[in-house]
Formats: sequence, structure tokens, C-alpha cells
Amino acid sequence: MNRIAIFGAGVMGAQIAALFAAAGFDVDLLDVNEAAATAGKDRLRKLRPSPLYAAADLDAIRPGALAGPLPKADWYLEAIVEDLAVKKQLMARIEAEGDPNAIVSTNTSSLSVRAIAEGRSAGFQSRFVGTHFFNPPRYLPLVEVIPLGDATAAERVLTHRLGKRAVLAKDSPGFIANRIGGAAIAAVLAAVEATGTDLDEADAITGTPLGRSRSGTFRTLDLVGLDTMQRIHPDLPPWIAEMIRRGWVGEKAGQGFYKRQDGEILVIDPKTLEYRPRRRVRITRDLTQLAYDNAFAWACLAPVLRFAAASIPEAADTPQQVDDAMRWGYGWSLGPFEVWDRIGFKRAAERMRAEGGSLPPLAESVGGRTFAEVFPRKRDPRELDIAAAPAVWETSDADLRDLGDGVACLHLHPDHDAIGPATIAAMRRAAADVGGSPRWQALVLLGASAERFSVGANLQLMLLAAEEEDWKEAERHIAAFQDANMGLRHLDRPVVAALAGMALGGGCEICLHADRIQAAAESYIGLVELGAGLIPAGGGLKELVRRANGNPRRIALALETAGQAKVSESARGAREIGYLSPADAISLDGGHRLADAKDTALLLAEAGYAPPRVDETFAVLGRDGRAALLLAVQEMRWAGRISEHDATLGTALANVLAGGDLPPGSRVRAQHVLDLEREAFLRLLGTPLTQARMKHLLSTGRPLRN
Ligand code: NAI
Repeated sequence: MNRIAIFGAGVMGAQIAALFAAAGFDVDLLDVNEAAATAGKDRLRKLRPSPLYAAADLDAIRPGALAGPLPKADWYLEAIVEDLAVKKQLMARIEAEGDPNAIVSTNTSSLSVRAIAEGRSAGFQSRFVGTHFFNPPRYLPLVEVIPLGDATAAERVLTHRLGKRAVLAKDSPGFIANRIGGAAIAAVLAAVEATGTDLDEADAITGTPLGRSRSGTFRTLDLVGLDTMQRIHPDLPPWIAEMIRRGWVGEKAGQGFYKRQDGEILVIDPKTLEYRPRRRVRITRDLTQLAYDNAFAWACLAPVLRFAAASIPEAADTPQQVDDAMRWGYGWSLGPFEVWDRIGFKRAAERMRAEGGSLPPLAESVGGRTFAEVFPRKRDPRELDIAAAPAVWETSDADLRDLGDGVACLHLHPDHDAIGPATIAAMRRAAADVGGSPRWQALVLLGASAERFSVGANLQLMLLAAEEEDWKEAERHIAAFQDANMGLRHLDRPVVAALAGMALGGGCEICLHADRIQAAAESYIGLVELGAGLIPAGGGLKELVRRANGNPRRIALALETAGQAKVSESARGAREIGYLSPADAISLDGGHRLADAKDTALLLAEAGYAPPRVDETFAVLGRDGRAALLLAVQEMRWAGRISEHDATLGTALANVLAGGDLPPGSRVRAQHVLDLEREAFLRLLGTPLTQARMKHLLSTGRPLRN
């Protein structure tokens, strides 16, 4: 299966086209005319966050006009206007002119899948399926699959080739996620009305504390657009209808429930429709306490729990499908049934009965147990749960766990995901234990979470050493980190880093020392030390120099990427800028990265793994190449594109990347480049401009350009 024709190059069609292109499909993207299709394709370049894993995917998307002959395809996917008659007409045409064996699917969000295929032959209907993506489709893994005929082929492509999470849904209004999500919004609006809760407080509660997406309800609606919401919820409270009338429809209009003014965020008052400064509201992280003690929180939760229970079996067959749909399509951390179990099934059920009579039959059937007990969840065997793996040892910053089959996993989870001395000690201990026992065949490295592998070295500590002018202490830290990374590289067992989310600075350097990286498609990797006024000194530059092996083009690329503290926008982007090697692999479904890393580690072990030699040498550019790099840095300075301190940093970087002041054609050992890294790092650490950058980064989270 390699060709897909997508109808509708709008918000969804174009972004879905990008996903299929990334999966290796040839994509025909069709709209009312070619100009509309081309415009849809062009929007992919501009949209942020980017819907593209790699810009090259655009080459696989061919814009076209619907008026022409239908292209041949293995799959026809419809994402045109939400209009039943128009969609039915298109289906008639696909039946008449399209490939007779192709999958046909619709991305409708509110129409009946059956109704769209009505009037078509039984053969057509047996190939017809609803495939409902969520916006933005690259970042929300859910696709609701609504089978009319046989949906297995479509589901397979979605999960295996696009890395999406498929949830089977029934052909009922709103399917699963929008149905529950809509009820959740309705409950929040009613609760605001009933309790007079301010919108900033409502968002603080209905975000992370209730197990929903971080931005909360109203901030999310600003992003979606109030006009869009109105199409799903025609009967909005009068004050929101008035906002829409005034054009205050959210982010795209410059104002909605929130607006930005003179760098300050303001929030609207529903009673007066006037804006006032947003307040920071502190909310307990204890979900149970919040649910029962906060009247607003309870008013937001209870109707949704009730409604979710009532949606089975009409919208879904199992509680798990509902929970999965909300996590993967709405970014909730807990689905409604998980919330209900978490806050105590019985206690919540009793309060709901007391307030509003009997519960939906599904909830009544739970009796004195929990949803999880009555409806056991099926686990995805490719999604390993690190917390469930037996611990060999645990420390504050990391633990070593047994993944089975002789594979150990070092799970790094330091404070703030930043690497400190205890993290480094754990890395060395893991290497010693795994290398020292026949029990282990391989080591997998796992970062803190799906959002962050690690955000780098603990800057606070370095700054402290610098302020106390304790250079010995600073040097000890760096040397220990270099040694820990080298210990992984030369361990006589294969080491595979399972990476997802951010791997910045030192986090990136750890991964560069693994034999292989198994990166989630959503990986944001970069040596960002220059933003802190430093250069990478944990062996990251040494790895780039070693891999370049004297190739000037690769060294120039390393200077550019590290010099600009570039971070990849995806795993594929990391390959383009040289942080992932061709041998490193990508897990399209990031949740599978640990299982994939384990498999890779075992394959390497079984193939007869031998670590790289400690005395290995590699070519460096030396003097002449260094001159060219230094010139490039100076040219940027002369052109006024970088500051004086940037030029100092660039010069230090260039010197290390060239392998220092050596005759051309020289070969060096790793330690030579590590020494260069460390010396340059310490020199920079002593400068006031670097210390100012570090302070600024620590206090604001943003780099200072001085
Ligand atoms: P859109 O308005 O951005 O794009 C629709 C595209 O269809 C436009 O490019 C338009 O030129 C084209 N079109 C209009 N009439 C047509 C016709 N007669 N034949 C062929 N193409 C025609 O809409 P959007 O948001 O991309 O929605 C498309 C579908 O996806 C709808 O069914 C919608 O319900 C569904 N959907 C939308 C989501 C969203 O968040 N926007 C999420 C999930 C599903």
C-alpha cells in the first residue's frame, strides 16, 4: 500500500497528507481547484508547531484539482467541508471512478459514517471506514476508527506506518472523544455560571489538576477558536455568543477569553466582558481532595463521569476505549474512568446518587469494586511500563531496572531532569554493574519522561563553583561527566538510548555515547550549551569530531548546529543535523521506544557485540581546517550577525571541532578532544559574560544574547 488520494486540502487534509508522506506514501492532495490544493500544501511550511517531520516530505505531496480524472490510489481519504450532501456526492464519484479495491475513509467529525456511504454498493460499503484524526494530527496520536465495513487494513496502516493510536468507535454523534470532550466543556461552562468562578481560576483547576490538558478549558478554546466551538455547541451562554459577535474568537483574532497587552496576559470577566490582569492561582495537586472539597471542581467532574458511563455501549464498548480516546485525542493525563477510580469509585458514586439519583447502568454494575477491576485493561505489549519492571537499585536521580531477557535499563529522573553528580554516579554504577555481571546482556538508557529525556547538565551547580572560583570543583564535575559517558561508550555490552522529547545539552551528549539511539518521532535534540555561554564538554563535541573523522563538511555542519544551539524539530530533523546517525532508529509511536530499544540492544548482543577500542584514533582537521572555521566565525562577527561573546564561543567551538592546533592529517584519541572540551569550558566559565548568560537562563528559562 503506497498511494493515497486525500480530498480537501484544508486544515485537516493538508496535515494528514504530511503524515502519509512521512510514512512513505505518494500523496495526491485534491481540492476544488489546483490553486486551493497548492495553497493547502504551502501552508504546511508555515504552520507552527510544524506539521512536517521533515521538509523533504513535501516532495511526496502532489496538489491537484478534483475536476480532473481521479488518481489511482490504495486509499481514498476524504477531508472536505462538513456537508453531508457534498460528501455523499464525492463518495458516488469515488465508487464510479476510483480504484475498486481501495480503502475509502472519511474524516468527518460530526456526520454519520453510515449516512455518508448511504446509497453506495455493498462492495463499496465493505471498504468504507471513518478515520477521525485530531488537530494537530502530528501531535495528537488518536485516530478514531469507525468501521462500516472491514477496518483492519486501515487500522494497520494508521498504527504501523503512521505511528498513530487507533481507538475503535461506534457510529454515534461525536464518536468518543468529541462527545466526552463536549460534555466536559458544557460542564465547565455550567459550573462557571453556577459558582461564579473566574476563568483564570477555572483554567488552573480544569488543567493538570483534574487530569486534563495543561492549558485548561478556556485557554484551549482560545486556541481552537470560539467560532469553531460554536459549530459543535450551538447553544453557548449569552456572554460567549456576544464575544463571538464582537469577533473576540480567540488566538487567531488576537483576543478571546485571554488577550495579551503590553507583555501582560489579561483575562475576560464574563459579567462585564472587560479584561483584567490574569492571576496566578495555586491549586492542590491532590485530585481526591480537589474533587470533593472544591465545589467548582466537583461540578466540572461529576457530570462528565456520569456522561462517560452513559456513553457505553452507545459510543464505545469499553471504559478503556473512552479513557484512551481522551488521553490520545485531548491530551488528558487521565480518562474519566481513571479519574473515577482514582478519587474512589464508591465515594464519588454515593455523592452523585445523593445529588442526582441513580447512575448509568454501567456504573451501577461496578458495585463495590472499581472500573479497573471490573473492566480489566488490555495492555499494548509494545508499551513497556518502566515502573512495573523490577528495580535492581534505586537512588534519588536514577534507578536500574530489569527489563527481562538480560536487559537492564537505567532510568534517569533527576530533579528538574537536569544531570547532577548523583545522576553521573548512577551512570557509573550502572555501567559497573552491567559490565560486571554475566546476568546482563545489554543496557538501555531511558530518560525522565516522554516529554524530556533530559534538559542537560545542572547549571546551578556550575554557576556556584564559578562564583566561588572553585575551578577544581568545576573541573571535577566535567571530568566525571566525561568519564561516565565514556564508560557507557566502552562498556562491553551494547548500550541503546531510548529517547523521546527533549534531549538537550548533556542529555544529548549521553545519547551520543550510546551504541544506538532509538528515538521517538517526537524528539527534540540539540547541543544548546552556547545559549548558556558555554560549549558542550561532556564528550558531545568529541563524538561529533570522531564521527566526522576528518570530513570538513561534517565538521562545518557541527559548527553551525552547535554554534546556533540548534534543536531538531523531530527525530528526522536530528538526522539531518547529524545528531542521529544512519544506524540510529526511530519509533513512530514514541510509546514503543523502550520496547524497540530493548529489541535493538538484544540484537546487538546476539550479533556478538564488541565495544569500540579504548585506544581507537580518528582523523581531525587540524590547523588548516581550523583556520577556515575561525574565518567563518569572524565573518559572522564582521557582518554583525553575532555578538563579541558569541564570537568568543564560536572560536572555542571551532578550536575543539578542528581537534586543536595540529598538523593537517593528524589522528587523535578521544581523550585529546575531551581535554580540549574541558579546557575551553573552564575558560568560558570564568568569564563574566558567560556567568551572566547562565544566571539569566536559570532565572528566566531563556537564553541571554550578550
Ligand atoms: P477546512 O475548511 O479547513 O477544509 C475543507 C477543504 O475542503 C477546503 O480546502 C475546501 O476548499 C475543500 N472543499 C470545499 N468544498 C469542497 C468540495 N465540494 N469538494 C472538495 N473539496 C471541497 O476544513 P477542515 O477543518 O480541514 O475539515 C475537513 C473535515 O475534517 C471536515 O469533515 C471536518 O469535520 C473534519 N475534521 C476537522 C477537524 C478540525 O479540527 N478542523 C478535526 C477532525 C475532523
